[in-house]
Amino acid sequence: MLVALLWTLASALTGAVASRAPAQLKNLTLTALVGKHGRSALECWAMAPELVESTATGTVGALSYGHIGMTGNSSYSLFTALSNAGLHNAPTAQYVMILTGSGELSFPSADPADPCLRGNYTVVAGDILIAVDTADVSSRGHNSVWQAGTSVLQMPFMGDTPNHVVLHEGGCHKPHM
Ligand SMILES: *[C@@H]1O[C@H](CO)[C@@H](O)[C@H](O)[C@H]1NC(C)=O
Ligand SMILES: *[C@@H]1O[C@H](CO)[C@@H](O)[C@H](O)[C@H]1NC(C)=O
Ligand SMILES: *[C@@H]1O[C@H](CO)[C@@H](O)[C@H](O)[C@H]1NC(C)=O
Repeated sequence: MLVALLWTLASALTGAVASRAPAQLKNLTLTALVGKHGRSALECWAMAPELVESTATGTVGALSYGHIGMTGNSSYSLFTALSNAGLHNAPTAQYVMILTGSGELSFPSADPADPCLRGNYTVVAGDILIAVDTADVSSRGHNSVWQAGTSVLQMPFMGDTPNHVVLHEGGCHKPHM
């Protein structure tokens, strides 16, 4: 009897949490690799406008952001072995969608003689990264180390950077959104 009562109470509580959670998701939040004062850094962006409940066939009821924008010729890459990319810039402003695996981003200091990389941030399957630290805004870029089995889609922006509000410096806290 007591067990049944506790069970009912527990279900009611978790049910309440589950149904309240989506209401807190107002905007899609994405981690962005940006150029700041000539150096690569991370920011957490709230994409605008807000998420809406889809009414489109096939996604009815899903939280939806219809402003990814036009993307150019896109590419798929699979890292078959552990790969250290070395310091590099985003070749072009783009989305990097992590399909499988994971990678670790790290950043050089302002001193070109300092070989240490810091600010390590891990991206995992399911993350959408915005990479806009192109050579014109970041002199040394960032480093990425990809685990074997990681696959990514690179989708260059055709238009402007999508509208967003910077929530804070550094990558978004996990879990996203
Ligand atoms: C969410 O997007 C709206 C624009 O639709 C914007 O005004 C608002 O600041 C964003 N929310 C956050 C938390 O940044
Ligand atoms: C995309 O690829 C096609 C086929 O290779 C090419 O003709 C076209 O110019 C490319 N578009 C852009 C924007 O690079
Ligand atoms: C951060 O990443 C760099 C480059 O991959 C690596 O050399 C360093 O050991 C990492 N630091 C930490 C604290 O994981």
